[in-house]
Amino acid sequence: MEIVTARLRLDALCREDAEALFRYRGDPAVSRYQGWKPASVTDAEHFIEAQDGVAPDTLGAWWQRAIRLRDTDALIGDLGLHFLDDATVELGISLAPAYQGQGLAREAVEVMLDFVLGGLRKQRVIALVDPRNTPCIRLLEGLGMRRAGGQADPVMFVLRAGEWLAAPDDASDR
Ligand SMILES: CC(C)(COP(=O)(O)OP(=O)(O)OC[C@H]1O[C@@H](n2cnc3c(N)ncnc32)[C@H](O)[C@@H]1OP(=O)(O)O)[C@@H](O)C(=O)NCCC(=O)NCCS
Repeated sequence: MEIVTARLRLDALCREDAEALFRYRGDPAVSRYQGWKPASVTDAEHFIEAQDGVAPDTLGAWWQRAIRLRDTDALIGDLGLHFLDDATVELGISLAPAYQGQGLAREAVEVMLDFVLGGLRKQRVIALVDPRNTPCIRLLEGLGMRRAGGQADPVMFVLRAGEWLAAPDDASDR
């Protein structure tokens, strides 16, 4: 499955992505607040191979998408959906440092929220975030996600289908 946006193409990770994925996922600036970091290109290859045959909406599975520049097809990040139960999907995203601060993460997450809450008709999307991860918190809050509960670590952000589908299409209004 492939999803195209104004600047991006979201599709399956392939073997040839291992080196690029190792480079940005292994960068401390990207791995700092994340639970997993590849120790080697081989590690990155295993991460990609583990996606073989994983379909979207598989209960308990992470379904990982490549984030590529539409113009060059270069791999610049990845986005994962974790199908927690029939109604709830957890989202995670990583972008190579050179491509941060340009609204590309927002562009990728927006289209996946449409897919999950509109296409798959899930009830809610959540994200678990280290409270020190300011860029991620800014991204999620900018998309209308809200903190669930108090001062937990990691912080859980939630977006309900009703909120997303009722919002105007113009992203700047969200
Ligand atoms: C979390 C992460 C993906 C956010 O990436 P990001 O590049 O900051 O997010 P965006 O693509 O939405 O870019 C937003 C910034 O681009 C700016 N921008 C520039 N052009 C833009 C455009 N055309 N549209 C929207 N924003 C634009 C915005 O003003 C915003 O800047 P600000 O944060 O100073 O307000 C990134 O920090 C990352 O990969 N972190 C490491 C991995 C990680 O911790 N992931 C979280 C696990 S859930």
